[in-house]
Amino acid sequence: MNINGAVALVTGGASGLGEATVRAFVGRGGRAVIVDLNEERGAALAKELGDAAVFAKADVSSADDVQAAVDQATAMGALRAAISCAGIGIGMRTIDKTGAPHDLSAFQKVISVNLVGTFNVLRIAASAMSKNEPEDGERGVVINTASIAAFDGQIGQVAYSASKGGIVGLTLPAARDLSKAQVRVVTIAPGTFDTPLLGMLGEDIRAALAATIPHPSRLGRPSEFGALACHIIENSYLNGEVIRLDGSLRMAPR
Ligand SMILES: NC(=O)c1ccc[n+]([C@@H]2O[C@H](COP(=O)([O-])OP(=O)(O)OC[C@H]3O[C@@H](n4cnc5c(N)ncnc54)[C@H](O)[C@@H]3O)[C@@H](O)[C@H]2O)c1
Repeated sequence: MNINGAVALVTGGASGLGEATVRAFVGRGGRAVIVDLNEERGAALAKELGDAAVFAKADVSSADDVQAAVDQATAMGALRAAISCAGIGIGMRTIDKTGAPHDLSAFQKVISVNLVGTFNVLRIAASAMSKNEPEDGERGVVINTASIAAFDGQIGQVAYSASKGGIVGLTLPAARDLSKAQVRVVTIAPGTFDTPLLGMLGEDIRAALAATIPHPSRLGRPSEFGALACHIIENSYLNGEVIRLDGSLRMAPR
């Protein structure tokens, strides 16, 4: 799939991995709809990128919000790529130190944004893509963002890991469902990336995190995520797969 001249929708596009994806896509000649709850950052990025990007305020877990954002994208041209980067995390154990159970609404909130939100974008974007004219045998590509916590979730990550494990689980059946529509589905499972999420941690904690990564022994650069997202779009043979992007990190229990 050619990026030059194509339209993409990027959720979580106002920050971190999503922002880097928007910049990489636009840098290769595409135009992007930046979907995010953060109006200030999203609108500022769209302004900086000029004609190549617009901002759409939307909650990824809302059917109406995402439909409106996809409509905004299709009004710009054929929607060829949808990249889900919106996500949230919490740290909470299954039972706490006093033996009290995990708050259920906190678990449900993480599942709602990370898993239901990702599927919501996938289903609505794929429906729009199925109406595109095929270009070199394909109509579009959907990229999801899981996490290596889907495989090696740490203590306190039960909700987050469940949400990301769900994204891993839906990748193959969604790719199979959408094969007739000529729409691909690929998931990236990032390791530890240097985004505003981690920027809140102290320098010592960031250095300790970096030291756990075998090679390269540093945090991932958001631009490396953006570059992989663009490669997935451009490489028509990648489908139904989950790609770890983690410097060979396998996380310990804590
Ligand atoms: N940074 C990492 O090390 C890392 C590692 C593994 C996975 N991930 C995943 O990558 C994705 C991006 O993470 P990041 O580090 O760039 O985080 P980030 O906090 O920098 O960006 C996430 C963006 O999502 C937006 N968002 C949150 N909830 C939303 C909602 N309901 N609707 C629309 N937008 C919403 C936020 O406003 C924010 O702009 C997340 O799914 C995260 O779980 C990140």
